Amino acid sequence: MMKNLLIVYHAPSGNTQKLVEACQQGFDEAHCENTRLKTLHCFAADEEATRSADAIILLTPENLGYISGALKDYFDRIYYPCLEDTQGMPCAVIIRAGHDGTGSHQALKTITTGLRWRWVQDALILRGSWQDDFLQQVRDLTTGMAAALDGGMI
Ligand SMILES: Cc1cc2nc3c(=O)[nH]c(=O)nc-3n(C[C@H](O)[C@H](O)[C@H](O)COP(=O)(O)O)c2cc1C
Repeated sequence: MMKNLLIVYHAPSGNTQKLVEACQQGFDEAHCENTRLKTLHCFAADEEATRSADAIILLTPENLGYISGALKDYFDRIYYPCLEDTQGMPCAVIIRAGHDGTGSHQALKTITTGLRWRWVQDALILRGSWQDDFLQQVRDLTTGMAAALDGGMI
């Protein structure tokens, strides 16, 4: 049975789009045999995609002290439909924050606690002015997540 790693993202800037591409590169580096990657913009991600995922990476910028409205909309749509079926979902979060990130971190902790999703990595908060090293950090997070899922460790 193939497993599904789902990335749900909002990438309104060139830099955040590069982060989404880095996720794909990190996945490729894991050389998975039994796992495929699905990358969906928040507005395209729905309850069906969420239910069929075996692990999820959430990627959002922090704007106005919170996760992007698009990611909030995703959770608003899937929360109750997925509440029963996705408990224990392994997840990881990537927050691109120009100067803070704590509001988004807290929001994602609260929302995923409600869903009973399971954080399998610490939040990756990419804070401050842009650094190219952010791309490596995102690649590493995604490689780790993909390898762990593929190897049956999460
Ligand atoms: C309207 C607006 C509000 C923002 N508010 C925050 C904020 O509350 N906290 C923060 O860390 N960054 C904030 N930022 C910066 C964004 O996090 C950052 O621009 C975004 O992650 C995209 O990254 P980039 O500028 O490197 O493309 C804000 C940006 C905009 C446009």
